[in-house]
Amino acid sequence: MTGYHVLEGEELSRLRDPRRDFALDVLSGLSEHHKKLDSRYFYDDEGSRLFQAIMSCKDYYPTDSEREILQNHGRSIAATCSGTPLNVIDLGAGDGAKTKILLQALVELGVDCRYVPIDISEGAIGGLVETMKLDMPELDVQGLVCEYTDGLNWLSSMGDNRKNLLLFLGSNIGNFNKARARAFLRRQWTSLRDGDYALIGFDLKKDIEVLLRAYNDSDGYTAAFNQNLLRRINTELGGTFDTSKFRHYGTYDVFSGAMVSYLVSLEEQVVEIAALGRSFEFEAWEPVHTEYSYKYLERDIEDLASDTGYIIEAKYRDSRHYFVDALWRVAK
Ligand SMILES: C[S@@+](CC[C@H](N)C(=O)[O-])C[C@H]1O[C@@H](n2cnc3c(N)ncnc32)[C@H](O)[C@@H]1O
Repeated sequence: MTGYHVLEGEELSRLRDPRRDFALDVLSGLSEHHKKLDSRYFYDDEGSRLFQAIMSCKDYYPTDSEREILQNHGRSIAATCSGTPLNVIDLGAGDGAKTKILLQALVELGVDCRYVPIDISEGAIGGLVETMKLDMPELDVQGLVCEYTDGLNWLSSMGDNRKNLLLFLGSNIGNFNKARARAFLRRQWTSLRDGDYALIGFDLKKDIEVLLRAYNDSDGYTAAFNQNLLRRINTELGGTFDTSKFRHYGTYDVFSGAMVSYLVSLEEQVVEIAALGRSFEFEAWEPVHTEYSYKYLERDIEDLASDTGYIIEAKYRDSRHYFVDALWRVAK
C-alpha cells in the first residue's frame, strides 16, 4: 500500500467538467479590473457555424490565402512527408476544408494516411467526420473532441510507428501571445518524435487597413461571433446578457502586433449569471476583451522554429504575401 492514488487516464477524464470550467473562467474573467472572456469559448455549435460564415466573407483574407498556399504547394508538402505511413493530426481542425486539399495530395501520392482531426467543438468534429466519409471514403479518420493540450497528451501516449504530420492551420497560433506561442510549440515538440513534421499557419503583419477590414466584416458575422459568447453564457450558465447592448470592436495594437477584439457595453447595466450566483456591473463604454490574433514577421517565425527545437523545412506564401504556412521538422 502506497497510501496514495495517482489519478490518470479515463478516471481523470471522467472527473472533468467542461461546464464548471467554463463557469469558473467566466467568473475570473469578468471579475478582473479589465474584464475579459476567453476566446476558446467562442466555438460552441453556433460559434463554429458563425466562424464558417466569417471564412466565406470576402474581406476575411486568411482562409483564401491559406487555401491558395495549399492548392499551390500541397503536393510539395505531401511529397516531403511521404515515404512512410503517416498520421495527419489537425489541431483545432474546424471544418477541415483546407486540410482536405493536403489530404487529397497525400492520397494521390499513395501515402498510407490516417487523419486525426482534434477540436473542442463537438459540432465541428461531428460535421467534419461526416463530410470526410462522403468526400474521402478511403481515408482512415479518427476524430477527437478535446482541448489542444489533451490532444497533445493523447499523441504522446499513442506510440505507434507512423510518422506524424501535425497541422496547426488557420492562424490558430495567433490566439496565443508570443510567450505562450513559444511554450505551446515547445509543448507540441515534446509530443512529437525526431523527424516528425509540423505545418503551422502564421498570419503576417500587413497593411493595417486590410487587417481592420478582415476583423470588422461588413456583413456583421464577426460581431455576431463575439456576441455569441454572451448568448452562450445565457444558455449554459443562466446569464441575462442582452447581446444588443454590447457592440463588437476590433482594433490593431501596433506595439504587440495583434488584432484585438472587444465587446463594449453600450450603457450602464447589470448582468446576472445564475450558475455563478452573482451579478456583474458594466459601465457605459466599458470593454470586455474577447480575443487576440497576433501577426508575425517572417523573421519572428524563423526565430520561433529554432528556439523551440525545429528545423525549417520550407515556408510557403500566398501571392499577396499575407500568410505563411511553415513546414518544420522536429530535431531531437
Ligand atoms: C480559427 S478556427 C480554425 C479552423 C481550421 N484550422 C482552419 O484553418 O480553417 C479555430 C478552431 O480551433 C478550435 N479551438 C479553439 N480553441 C481550442 C482549444 N483550446 N482546443 C481545441 N480546439 C480549439 C475551434 O473550435 C475552431 O474550430
